[in-house]
Amino acid sequence: MTLTKSVKATVNKTSIYLPQPATLLESSSLTEHEMYFRFCLDDGKDFSYMPGQFMSVSVPGIGEAPISICSSPTRTKPGELEMVIRKVGGVTAALHHLVVGQKVGLRGPFGTTFPVDGEFKGRDLLFVCGGIGLVPVRSAIHYVLDNRGDYGEVTIMFGARTPNDRLFLKDLQEWTDRPDVYYLDTVDQFDTRGPVWTGRVGVITRLIPKVKFDPALTTTVICGPPIMYKFVLIELAKIELRDDRIFLSLERHMKCGVGKCGHCQINGLYACQKGPVFKYSEIESVPEAI
Ligand SMILES: Cc1cc2nc3c(=O)[nH]c(=O)nc-3n(C[C@H](O)[C@H](O)[C@H](O)COP(=O)(O)OP(=O)(O)OC[C@H]3O[C@@H](n4cnc5c(N)ncnc54)[C@H](O)[C@@H]3O)c2cc1C
Ligand code: FES
Repeated sequence: MTLTKSVKATVNKTSIYLPQPATLLESSSLTEHEMYFRFCLDDGKDFSYMPGQFMSVSVPGIGEAPISICSSPTRTKPGELEMVIRKVGGVTAALHHLVVGQKVGLRGPFGTTFPVDGEFKGRDLLFVCGGIGLVPVRSAIHYVLDNRGDYGEVTIMFGARTPNDRLFLKDLQEWTDRPDVYYLDTVDQFDTRGPVWTGRVGVITRLIPKVKFDPALTTTVICGPPIMYKFVLIELAKIELRDDRIFLSLERHMKCGVGKCGHCQINGLYACQKGPVFKYSEIESVPEAI
């Protein structure tokens, strides 16, 4: 699977615009603003996806929103997928009100993938994730850990605003405990009146100099809030990691998800088709991209 080639929706053979019914199997709160969801497509036997891709999730009568798949195909049953959704407006608030057994519409999967079966193979992998940026990258991390022998060193860096904003606590503990993963995290700040935090405090970029990377062997994945990319890229340049070995997952406002409406354009480049996963070398000359 090539990175630039968008993967066609495999759910729906008739119309890419027609949502397919799916049922909420499980949901839970992860933080004050983010909830975890597990959906199953009602007719999902032909459904397949890869890390990095997203779905358009619709709530009848409210609207539709692009949401990343945070599960890995190595861990989900046929037709199932997991998501984490931050409540910011109409559609995401309606999703937070769903109860198990209720229906949503799903279109997709859309977009490019992290090349876990291609360029990542045999490489040392560095994942740098800030906040909700861990959501799409978790899919790739699970995939890599489930095929651990195919990759070199695995380093995961995660930065959250506060200890309470940390997502996927079970995963974070697993990565901490695994001898074949080097996991480092940090929080920007913590409230001394809140839960005890004995970990690192400071921005995520401070983690990068703590690890020795071989630039010839290392491939990096970055996903986080827009401000994070600039500073992480500066740190990576200091250790001479190559731009064509840096992959970023970028969010843009999207509607159709299939290259028709133009909502996601970055200087003539349709993020829903060429992204959300880009090589840095493909977009570094496009100032609006980051
Ligand atoms: C490829 C892709 C993957 C995404 N994955 C996830 C995910 O895994 N989990 C998740 O919670 N969200 C994700 N998003 C963002 C999500 O799509 C938006 O938050 C959602 O569309 C907001 O819809 P709404 O109706 O709830 O809010 P609206 O009422 O439409 O908007 C509320 C506020 O959010 C802002 N907003 C809307 N869309 C975006 C956006 N794309 N980026 C930044 N701000 C936005 C609006 O400007 C407004 O200020 C993703 C977006 C893209 C493009
Ligand atoms: S979201 Fe419509 S063209 Fe990309």
